Amino acid sequence: NKKGFIFDLDGVIVDTAQYHYLAWKELADSLGISFSEVENEQLKGVSRIRSLEKILEMGNMTLAQDEFDRLITNKNADYLSYVEGMTREEILADVPRVLRFLSENGQRLALGSASKNARTILGKVGLMDQFDTIVDGTQVSKAKPDPEVFIRAAKELHVPAERCIVFEDALAGIQAANNAGMLSIGIGDPTVLREAAFVFSDFTKISNEFLNELIQA
Ligand code: G6P
Ligand code: MG
Repeated sequence: NKKGFIFDLDGVIVDTAQYHYLAWKELADSLGISFSEVENEQLKGVSRIRSLEKILEMGNMTLAQDEFDRLITNKNADYLSYVEGMTREEILADVPRVLRFLSENGQRLALGSASKNARTILGKVGLMDQFDTIVDGTQVSKAKPDPEVFIRAAKELHVPAERCIVFEDALAGIQAANNAGMLSIGIGDPTVLREAAFVFSDFTKISNEFLNELIQA
């Protein structure tokens, strides 16, 4: 009677959007494309390649494939230079409490992230051992809202999809969870995440009593 609890990484466990923003901003500046934190919001949960395509669309620009590839490589190196400085201080509020409560109650935990840097980031913040399995952007080919990443995580947890609960901060992630037949819990703005079964502004609003209800349901 175990449930599977699947966590997105960026925006759920750590706030890496600020580092993605700095790296994308530098790239956009170099192309003369205006890019602010408002535009950066549209890249949450979006794959690396699709993100650059969107930035080019913002500037009505196209690039040759080799230049596109070069910029993507540079951006990731730049992003990783920020990740390099991350510490456990950057784990978002009450995430450790929620992870501990669920594992102490015998639940199965997975990470389900689009990021190819997920393992590096978990290592930096010291959360590598908190999950029974990790599925990241190096292991899936279809981006959220396709449910591939969550379906694979559920398989690796040996928990059927209908007994899995997904925590996500991006609309595409909520849709991926819903498409997988899982219970979706939004972390963030309820107007953005309105397709989620529940929405909380952050984990401090998720009580152990609520987690217990999810376990028992
Ligand atoms: C997450 C982030 C996106 C990022 C994507 C790929 O979904 O929210 O902003 O583009 O992961 O991350 P990566 O680390 O592989 O570039
Ligand atoms: Mg996210």
